[in-house]
Amino acid sequence: MVRKKLIAGNWKMNCLSAEGMALAKDVAGAVKGSKFDCDFLICPPFTLLAMIKKCLRGSKIALGAQDVHFAEKGAHTGDISPLMLKDLGCGYTIIGHSERRVDHFEKDELINKKAVAAHNAGLNTVICIGETGEQRDAGKTIKVCESQIKGSVPDDATAKNTVIAYEPIWAIGTGKTPTAADVEEVHAAIRKTLVKKLGKATANKMRILYGGSVKPNNAKELLSLPDVDGALIGGASLKAEDFINIAKNACK
Ligand code: 13P
Repeated sequence: MVRKKLIAGNWKMNCLSAEGMALAKDVAGAVKGSKFDCDFLICPPFTLLAMIKKCLRGSKIALGAQDVHFAEKGAHTGDISPLMLKDLGCGYTIIGHSERRVDHFEKDELINKKAVAAHNAGLNTVICIGETGEQRDAGKTIKVCESQIKGSVPDDATAKNTVIAYEPIWAIGTGKTPTAADVEEVHAAIRKTLVKKLGKATANKMRILYGGSVKPNNAKELLSLPDVDGALIGGASLKAEDFINIAKNACK
């Protein structure tokens, strides 16, 4: 099964306007001048979405948010609805990032609800899962991922509207990564769980990204694994050169 790789940047809570625009323009310029065999996505903070949309005009890079509310509109102070993201020109939203799960106490049930709302608004979702260091040390990685997939991936998920991102929490921003064998084992287990939940045809087409300290120097090894269909990149997506070099090293 050939799945086109997705190289996705999660800028998190970084960049003011000037910096964000310069970064988006640099990335768009580099992508335009080359023939990478992969899809690109960048997810800036909410404040920059409208601005970055303009910088990406004419480019094949998709725009995504980092979170979304499940309601279409209404009394939810400080939140952003799926329709608002769609209205801004977003094609994607990340949901259930571990930093949301930890900082905002988000649970699988809420993440599932957000995903359904996003899909109903015509957005694609990048649903994040991954174990803590403690869970890994206790040998519970696969169990935790299975349970997060079962709980947070909605029944309406298709290979088109949903991307899974496996991000071991202990690997995020630490410079540590699991071994290639460990990554493949977890991704294969995630796919098996997706087969049970969504059927073989959907699961085999669904992209599963790896995230957690992906850098230009480890991208080739990690992204050449059979069940790794791209990367969700934090720190290295804030430097255009690194982000592009990850694509260069991982996609033909
Ligand atoms: P780093 O690439 O900085 O480890 O972050 C990964 C991540 O959390 C992407 O969503």
